[in-house]
Amino acid sequence: MQNIKQYLNKEISTALKECSDIQSSNANVTTSSRPEFGDYQANGIMPVAKQLSANPRELALKVIDYLNDNSIALIETLEVAGPGFINIRLCERSVLSMANDLLSGKNDAISVTDSPMKVVVDYSSPNLAKEMHVGHLRGTIIGDSIVRILEKEGHEVIRQNHVGDWGTQFGMLISFMQEIKRSDTENTPTELSDLEKFYTAAKARFDSDESFSATSRQAVVKLQSGDPNHRAIWEEFIETSLLHCDAIYKKLNVTLGRADLDSESRYNDILGNIIEELELKGLVTESDGAKCVFLPEFIGKDGDKLPIIIQKSDGGYLYSTTDLAAIKLRSEQMMADRALYVVDARQSLHFKQVFALAKSAEIASNNISLEHIAYGTMMGPDGRPFRTRSGDTVKLIDLLDESIARAYDLVTEKNSSLGETERRKIAKVVGIGSVKYAELSKSRTSDYVFEWSSMLSFEGNTAPYLLYAFARINSLLSKSPESNSSIVISSISTDEERSLLIKILQFPEIVNTVSTDCYPNLLCNYLYELAGIFMRFYEACPILKADKRIKSSRIALASLTANTLKEGLGLLGIETLEKM
Ligand code: ARG
Repeated sequence: MQNIKQYLNKEISTALKECSDIQSSNANVTTSSRPEFGDYQANGIMPVAKQLSANPRELALKVIDYLNDNSIALIETLEVAGPGFINIRLCERSVLSMANDLLSGKNDAISVTDSPMKVVVDYSSPNLAKEMHVGHLRGTIIGDSIVRILEKEGHEVIRQNHVGDWGTQFGMLISFMQEIKRSDTENTPTELSDLEKFYTAAKARFDSDESFSATSRQAVVKLQSGDPNHRAIWEEFIETSLLHCDAIYKKLNVTLGRADLDSESRYNDILGNIIEELELKGLVTESDGAKCVFLPEFIGKDGDKLPIIIQKSDGGYLYSTTDLAAIKLRSEQMMADRALYVVDARQSLHFKQVFALAKSAEIASNNISLEHIAYGTMMGPDGRPFRTRSGDTVKLIDLLDESIARAYDLVTEKNSSLGETERRKIAKVVGIGSVKYAELSKSRTSDYVFEWSSMLSFEGNTAPYLLYAFARINSLLSKSPESNSSIVISSISTDEERSLLIKILQFPEIVNTVSTDCYPNLLCNYLYELAGIFMRFYEACPILKADKRIKSSRIALASLTANTLKEGLGLLGIETLEKM
């Protein structure tokens, strides 16, 4: 089913085509920038008039006449404005009936798309030698919101957690483990449960001892050629590391499981074929013993072509090689229509090169759209990438626990009469919700400053504000027994009711924009605005004291608002609380 904007756009575009004879005409309908003049506006008349060298206001009038003659559902009035816009006011009856169909459960707010796609979403994708750190937070959360939204719209989503489990660092870890197993020093950290400590100790050894680093390099080769002993130790690391990831995903309520793993190691055996394929197509050049591809569109600062290295001089493969193999799988076997890569913006060049090479070498078919969903860096208050005081990376699990602890203090301060269990429960939802919302509500492409005080604030565009708004509506509904029966929104007697109702009906439009462009902050803005419009309605329109009919209509409206907030937060991966 189409949302209102799509419906209006289709109808008005048809009228514009009829009136102009230009088949490519697009009415370009948007939500109105001046709600006092209309709910939507069509901006597409002027460019068409220009093509015809006609007067845009006259063309707009023709379009309006055409639409009036064909009495289009949903539209109450149409008006020409400014140099040739059309202001559109929706008809109250249609709006009410749409809303009541949602309320009764006859229609879903987000209806299933007519053109479902198969979408691979590569997200989270940490490197496994270490525990997940704050740098993995944004990709994990943004990716998870995108998959929820795509699935809600009826697309087939294939989650891919492209974990780094095959790099040179594993040679170092394996050698260090072997060394520990041989000696019996008590002070060496054999416990893998603290991967971080283990990694640091191994790295120190690697940096300070040449023979150890040589052994480490041989260990990678042995691992990659299938030596069972090396493989067994490696598996131990991977399992421990994955257990850490599982714990994080569970705590974050992120929908990634073991079945979604798309480990780098999985591609080991086909990397050689990728090189061969590129060689056969005549794309490979040797440079200093390494195999490279030079594409004309990638030029460095000095004017020379930039290489895409696909095999090192020692025979080792690279990140790019694995990504080419993954693209082949996603395109040829999964036959995806879109492959989204929710990865740090600092990898932009990598993806530009790999995508371009995959397309030109026909590793990716023409049908697949390869998209880097880039996100900016999380900065500390000092404006540098977020780190601990001592300059170490912050473990993600520690950050999440701190957020829950801070939320617990906040809840205790606000509502000390609540029981301990209740407060713990609220703290978990608020703590995790706040971290997630803080990431999601910023435009993903920009860097942003991570700040406890603003993300845990009850004011502004934050999770606590929205969760609290939702809980408040629920408390209102719980005071009104009517809310349990099948009530309807029967009239819109004030501007506040009208704005709220129309805002609710615009929910699927926003969701659709996010599934196309992958900017979840637009959904956050929408929910924040919705909560604000609800508050204005709540202040201006008495509910519990109103006449019976109006009371039940307003309760129905409140209930629809609550449903929308809950569903919207759910699409962001954020849980709600009935009470707070
Ligand atoms: N493991 C990589 C990293 O931590 C991210 C992988 C992203 N996905 C991909 N297909 N390259 O930087």
